[in-house]
Amino acid sequence: MPKIKKEKQNKFYVTTPIYYVNDVPHIGHAYTTIAADVLARYFRMMLGGDNVYFLAGTDEHGAKIAQAAEKNKMTPQEFVDQKAAQFQMAWDRLDISNNDFVRTTEKRHEKVVVDFMKQLKSAKTPLGNDCLYESEYEGLYCVACEAFKTETELVNGKCLDHNKECEKVKEKNWFLRLSDYAATLKDLIEKGELNILPEARKNEVLGLIKVGLKDVAISRQNVKWGIQLPFDKEQTAYVWVDALINYISALGGTKGKLYKKFWPADVHLMAKDILKFHAVIWPALLLALGLPLPKLIFAHGFFTIDGQKMSKTIGNVINPDELVTKYGADATRYLLLSQFGFGTDGDFSRERLNNIYNAALANELGNLVSRVVAMNEKYFESKVPEANANGDKYFAFDLKTDWERYDFFMKSLKFDEALGVIWENIRKANMYIDKEKPWELAKSDKHQLADVIYNLLETIRQAAIMLIPFMPQKADNILEVIGFDAEKEKEKKPSDLREWGRLPEGQKTKKAEALFPRLT
Ligand code: ME8
Ligand code: MG
Repeated sequence: MPKIKKEKQNKFYVTTPIYYVNDVPHIGHAYTTIAADVLARYFRMMLGGDNVYFLAGTDEHGAKIAQAAEKNKMTPQEFVDQKAAQFQMAWDRLDISNNDFVRTTEKRHEKVVVDFMKQLKSAKTPLGNDCLYESEYEGLYCVACEAFKTETELVNGKCLDHNKECEKVKEKNWFLRLSDYAATLKDLIEKGELNILPEARKNEVLGLIKVGLKDVAISRQNVKWGIQLPFDKEQTAYVWVDALINYISALGGTKGKLYKKFWPADVHLMAKDILKFHAVIWPALLLALGLPLPKLIFAHGFFTIDGQKMSKTIGNVINPDELVTKYGADATRYLLLSQFGFGTDGDFSRERLNNIYNAALANELGNLVSRVVAMNEKYFESKVPEANANGDKYFAFDLKTDWERYDFFMKSLKFDEALGVIWENIRKANMYIDKEKPWELAKSDKHQLADVIYNLLETIRQAAIMLIPFMPQKADNILEVIGFDAEKEKEKKPSDLREWGRLPEGQKTKKAEALFPRLT
């Protein structure tokens, strides 16, 4: 069996799927990409920016793309150039901090795919057979999925994911002897060397393996828009194999510096629709070449819009730009990740998004910040008061465990729960104001008033630090309102940033612009 290298410490490599450029980006794509960005930003905070690599990109070959280009009366290359630019623009608007953006039509990618294919051609399976063999395929192909299908996977001849008719194809293909990898894969998954989460998705993969893995085509005969096989000029690489290799081609191939530092990937993120490609085919391809497997494959759920599947036919596809225009980038990021657990299916209702924006962002967070700095201005001339004159350390106590919970949730991709920890503190701070009534303390007890204002400002500071991965712009704004230079502040070690009482006495707070203007 090929050797699996031990995990390298202190680095983090996260990827999103490379999305098909047959159409413009929608919030399904944005959802996964935002999640990856939150992880990347969190780990940059923990490990330092140089030790984190975040890859995004686009999947630009294959029949589906070629057909879309034709429909738009463009050459495939013109078409993919235009669409890839739209994806990049959408991610810029959402403040996505990917280190690289890989496109499968780039030379640097194609070179690695050709090299990969060459190696595959001479590789042996764990059972000692040739990895690749030539054979005739006769059956069904779903262009929308870019996948071969069996009758049992269809309902009334249509694929379940896209509700589209499959093509009947009869072609010569090169096949990967996937069946020879079943036992090895099962073993690696059961031992946790290849982690698949959530647990239900892992069981799904083990179920697939148990039923039996059929060999899969790794090339197509009649698809011209693709990468030619180095050993068979009549064939192009099957678009899924082409696409999966992006995770390594973007690192410069297996000889690249980035590869040495960052491979294996710490997390491949995706939704459950493409789990099998990532959890079965990709690991088998890597095993064939003797390469280390990704540490974790995380397949989140699928969401609906107002209870319905997002689809062009229904006309309910949401473009992320629409949300950014309405709510701003940070609020969009918050709204998408806070509504249901990452990993489960969920629903977004447009009305609920508005309500949550107003309740959680405009009221609970936005008002807290503006009220507290306004009180600091009124009672202490905008200078952070002396802390703990009265020894009220109520918040300090809980925050220590809150940070532990936050770290745990971030590392287990429970983004809604990590946000939950932040909002517990925001709500607690709001209740603390109601209970302590600073406007009364101003008349009766200046010491207690100083404690209360200090505790509130310091709680706001801590919340801002926790918010950095989720709402990078607003977190900076909040830090600036309470008197920090956000860039300088973020250079500090996490342990320093998290310590209670780091807000310096006498620091000048500013007037808060409305962080999240109310929607009417
Ligand atoms: O599959 N809910 O690209 P794709 C949640 N090119 N996530 C959703 C979603 C929804 N309703 N709709 C889409 C491909 N997604 C291949 C990938 S990778 C080597 C090649 C997200 O454009 C989710 O991440 O069809 C899903 O896995 C992905 O978009 C599919 O994107
Ligand atoms: Mg798809």
